[in-house]
Amino acid sequence: MEVLIAANAEEAARFAAKAVIDGLRTRVTGDPVLGVATGSTPLGLYAELARAVGRGDADFGKTTAFALDEYVGLEGTHEQSYRQTLVTELCNVIGLPESRLHTPDGHGDSEERIRAQAAAYDAAIVDARIDVQILGIGTNGHIGFNEPGSSLRSRTRIKRLSAQTRMDNARFFDGLDAVPTHSVTQGLGTILDSRRMVLVATGSRKAAAIAAAVEGPLSAACPASVLQLHPDAVVVLDEAAAAGLRNRAYYDDSAAGLQFGI
Ligand code: GLP
Repeated sequence: MEVLIAANAEEAARFAAKAVIDGLRTRVTGDPVLGVATGSTPLGLYAELARAVGRGDADFGKTTAFALDEYVGLEGTHEQSYRQTLVTELCNVIGLPESRLHTPDGHGDSEERIRAQAAAYDAAIVDARIDVQILGIGTNGHIGFNEPGSSLRSRTRIKRLSAQTRMDNARFFDGLDAVPTHSVTQGLGTILDSRRMVLVATGSRKAAAIAAAVEGPLSAACPASVLQLHPDAVVVLDEAAAAGLRNRAYYDDSAAGLQFGI
């Protein structure tokens, strides 16, 4: 695992964009496949990717994207659906065609139907193989909507949202009651199949979750700790999110080595 600690959120976004672009470039055959996340944290990263496009350093016109998760019960056209959010905050920003954006389908007339859609989504990811999976982290250590207790080998499925997550996300809805109770999320096993993971966290609200994910035990109690199992996980933090880390000096030494190409 590489832990990169930036001076501030803007620098973290630049570090993360470089990790994403470098990761996509390592694909040998076919068009690149990017795993994308919602939330406020990746917005700076998406703006940096757009800058890279402007400079001619990246082009997402032929990139396929798979979203981590979607709310159950919202149509893909709903303003707060993750599909609409990603069209606005990702596709329109980095020039990724909407037709190339895949999102889980959490809408259906029965639970059975939604389960079948989740399984088909997982199979499509296995088929495509994600080159770089972008991740944020919830204050309770979730990634995607894999809440504490999620199996470390789980696949895309319906997952109940925790009370904490619903409260955290209520700001996007007309109050807590309007926040869906369930999601369809890539599982931790699905996320682990990606060739590179780039997790970004900023701000002091994420410090405890980051300390548990990076330096705590590998445990379903902190789903993001599954990063410890991945051979190419990059964790990009600002100072506030890194505040709870004990091994800070080592991460800084390692990052300095990377700058010299060692
Ligand atoms: C939601 C998403 C996660 C995201 C998290 C944190 O729960 N399902 O993928 O990481 O929010 O969001 P933010 O970056 O806004 O703190």
